[in-house]
Amino acid sequence: MSIAAGHTQPDASTVPAITITDVAPRDGLQNQAVAISTDAKVELIRLLARAGLRSVEATSFVSPKAVPQMADAADVVQRASAACPDLRLSTLVPNLKGLERAHGAGATEIAVVLSATETMNQRNINMGLDAATEVSEQTLIRARELGLRTRAYVAVAFDCPFEGTVDLDTVLRLACRMRDAGAGEIVIADTIGAAAPAAVKTRLSALAQVLDIDTLAVHLHDTRGLGAANAWAALEAGVRRFDASVGGIGGCPFAPGAAGNLATEDLVLMAGQCGLDTGISLDGLLDAVAYAESLLGRPLGGRSSAWLRRQRERQRAAA
Ligand code: HMG
Ligand code: MG
Repeated sequence: MSIAAGHTQPDASTVPAITITDVAPRDGLQNQAVAISTDAKVELIRLLARAGLRSVEATSFVSPKAVPQMADAADVVQRASAACPDLRLSTLVPNLKGLERAHGAGATEIAVVLSATETMNQRNINMGLDAATEVSEQTLIRARELGLRTRAYVAVAFDCPFEGTVDLDTVLRLACRMRDAGAGEIVIADTIGAAAPAAVKTRLSALAQVLDIDTLAVHLHDTRGLGAANAWAALEAGVRRFDASVGGIGGCPFAPGAAGNLATEDLVLMAGQCGLDTGISLDGLLDAVAYAESLLGRPLGGRSSAWLRRQRERQRAAA
């Protein structure tokens, strides 16, 4: 079923105009109050694959004391890899110990997380900016030696909840350090959803001057309702790789004010209406949102979800 005008069902033979990594199983579930079983996490990943997602951030290999929801990371990787063998499954690792655990579990892709300020690194991974930069570099280098695909987040790349607006020069410098250490993708993150489209376009355009645009991705949170506008600004800067989270769930537990991510369904709808193929089915995403709602016991969904659901009901009634 095609919900939005101009949207087509995923076709494995076409190359999508934009690539989306759904981070709901990691960013979306890491900070939930209710415990989510490994079975449920794997089922959510399976539903995302069925909707046409080709890349999912499945979990994180962090301290279970810091983030108890991610304590089952190894099981999630093993079981999701078996259930969805064609899916790119990324896993967040904050250090070499996380990488060792991820590799031991059979992960084939990792993402390091470097924040652009001293305080955010301290709060998130218990080390300062210089140490976090070095640890991220060592982790990327080792991951490449192990033959893994690599991503590097540059978090608080716009505003930091502790230190305010972050210098563009700092973001450029850290992004280049991550590239030089071998990051296959550099993910520029608006951790607390404070960026505006003008800043997104300026910053991503500046980054595109020094980095290969094919390696640049954006990770947007939707705290102020500007997620889709910011994604459009990134598209205008030439970016074609996006993180998003089905149902709009997400938020870093160590960044005060961080709300949910840009919802995958909002991004897919906007891209489709603008003629940009994602290879992702809105109908399939609604199934994943409904499943996430059943897990978390509350209504979820991006800005477009109510409209998308009405469209689906109308089409089902007419069929
Ligand atoms: P620490 O306490 O400073 O670590 O934590 P340590 O090196 O001093 O070691 C202490 C203990 O932790 C030791 O065990 C280590 O072995 C163990 P013990 O000897 O006491 O038994 N340890 C680990 N265990 C499991 N996995 C590991 C690991 N490393 C050490 N990888 C650490 C440092 C980074 C581990 C901790 O601060 C941590 O786990 N932080 C969690 C960070 C996190 O998950 N944040 C949320 C994700 S980031 C995010 O959401 C932003 C993003 O979405 C982008 C955006 O929006 O901006 C990505
Ligand atoms: Mg995030």
